[in-house]
Amino acid sequence: MCGIVGAIAGRDVVPVLIEGLKRLEYRGYDSAGIAVVVDGAVRRVRRTGRVSEMEAAAGAEDFHAPLGIGHTRWATHGGVTEGNAHPHISHDTLALVHNGIIENHEAQRERLSRLGYVFESQTDTEVIAHLIHHHQSQGLDLLAALQASARELDGAYALAVIDKRDPDRMVVARMGCPLLVGLGDGENFVASDVSAILQATRRVIFLEEGDTAEITRSAVRVFDGAGAAVERGEHLSDVSLASLELGPYRHFMQKEIHEQPRALADTIEAIIDAAAFEPTLFGKDAEAVLRGIDGVQILACGTSFYSGSVARYWIEAISGLPCSVEIASEYRYRKAVANPKHLIVTISQSGETLDTMEALKYAKSLGHTRTLSICNVPESAIPRASGLVFYTRAGAEIGVASTKAFTTQLVGLFALAVTLAKLNDRLGAEQEAAYIEDLRQLPGSVQHALNLEPQITSWAEKFTLKHHALFLGRGVHYPIALEGALKLKEISYIHAEAYPAGELKHGPLALVDAEMPVVVIAPKDALLEKVKSNMQEVRARGGELFVFTDADSNFSASEGVHVIRTPRHVGVLSPIVHTIPVQLLAYHTALSRGTDVDKPRNLAKSVTVE
Ligand code: F6R
Repeated sequence: MCGIVGAIAGRDVVPVLIEGLKRLEYRGYDSAGIAVVVDGAVRRVRRTGRVSEMEAAAGAEDFHAPLGIGHTRWATHGGVTEGNAHPHISHDTLALVHNGIIENHEAQRERLSRLGYVFESQTDTEVIAHLIHHHQSQGLDLLAALQASARELDGAYALAVIDKRDPDRMVVARMGCPLLVGLGDGENFVASDVSAILQATRRVIFLEEGDTAEITRSAVRVFDGAGAAVERGEHLSDVSLASLELGPYRHFMQKEIHEQPRALADTIEAIIDAAAFEPTLFGKDAEAVLRGIDGVQILACGTSFYSGSVARYWIEAISGLPCSVEIASEYRYRKAVANPKHLIVTISQSGETLDTMEALKYAKSLGHTRTLSICNVPESAIPRASGLVFYTRAGAEIGVASTKAFTTQLVGLFALAVTLAKLNDRLGAEQEAAYIEDLRQLPGSVQHALNLEPQITSWAEKFTLKHHALFLGRGVHYPIALEGALKLKEISYIHAEAYPAGELKHGPLALVDAEMPVVVIAPKDALLEKVKSNMQEVRARGGELFVFTDADSNFSASEGVHVIRTPRHVGVLSPIVHTIPVQLLAYHTALSRGTDVDKPRNLAKSVTVE
């Protein structure tokens, strides 16, 4: 969703801001803008639509300045208009960009209106600009005015502010939304996401909840929520610029699908090196936390919820512990019964998803103390709020539709299931060695599945003109059917639903006719014969079947039954291998329908609002 970049330097920062905003485009946005302080004036350009349109407008106005802020907006309060785009300006002096939502904006708006402030937008953000200006008019300097304003705001924010009367610094604040400071040589930066400033520096300071900071060309001073000066550690970001470039691929989603063998190999490296599933995979105190648990509660949204749904099968079957999975936005609003001996596992690619974060906070408020985050973005909010962490090493995921994050999450969750089994004395040395061997083989098996791309492309052509599709799976492959349906609907806009195949005759079979393609995940496992019966139910109603099965299952294509064989059945990790074809099917169908694959309509990469 929204993105922030800011810079103060001895050079023109406009190209840095524009490049930063381009790097933030993947998060999803509908307008963009920059504001700079130059020659004693604050100047701004904003546009709805793409950053490139705003860039052209800035070029036409000949923008050059040593201090500036930029923003990509994903509309929440107020429609997609230039007037609602950030930066917002108060009294032609200070300019501000904001990520997040201010919950008490109406009360503040009324108060400021009474004080004579005139609002030009429908946003909650403009309130903050005027509030800071108001505190300045009461005699506070820019930093103190920001801190005073922050104390009066309810909700979530990351803020960056510049002021023409104070041209040698930028001030920033963080509460509930990520914000980091980038350290350069005689120049410094701020961003909501490290990708925005990697062009300039890898040295970053992650601000913590309630922090404010003053950033000049040569120094960064950070203050905690109480206003006391604090030191926040410096980190070297390992996000590579290459992961932010398309390279030879047409889309980031295609690139990220193909990166999965490498992403999986990186994620399992620690297990393979240790030749064991050690609790330390989840943090140095993990053994003490994991040993005492008597169940697992998984909380997540979207694709991450589906990886949790696969994990439920693994955790119960391998470790013998009960496991429930719940959509975070549901859990956070129901009166749940907490068992403090349950481990709360949140799963999130971005580590920023608001509903998942709030579900975690709610679980803690109910008395849960054992928390684990499976996450792809180091130092993001959810892992920072969790006791234990397993970082997937998928690298930056830019395509809105999650792909490599999903399969690497599955590896982390599998490792959790096996580690719990080990701690509960349910894992012999032979079985542990066999699981490690399964993991070792995994990147190769995934590569084999990727090699099916040409066959899957020819199937995609058959989906191009369809309006609906049904996905079926059973057992641990049912969540893969769900994931396949989600991928297809979000990037190709074909309505797709997934069902456990055994449920077909309880309703959805009524939908089946020659116009309804039915995709079946049918690996050679204990449920294959059951799935075959379900497929006959479809065929008997004239439905056309598109079946993904393993090389060693014993059925073949026939009239109305298309079959693509993934490599030989890989055992317990089969859901990971069977994810690849459904990702490719969605990608190639979207491609043939000409949709915006990496930025599907109405969707954002990081969902930081409700
Ligand atoms: C679908 C997709 C979304 C995300 C969901 C949660 O392709 O990407 O459904 O999985 O928004 O996001 P994270 O994992 O960042 O919490």
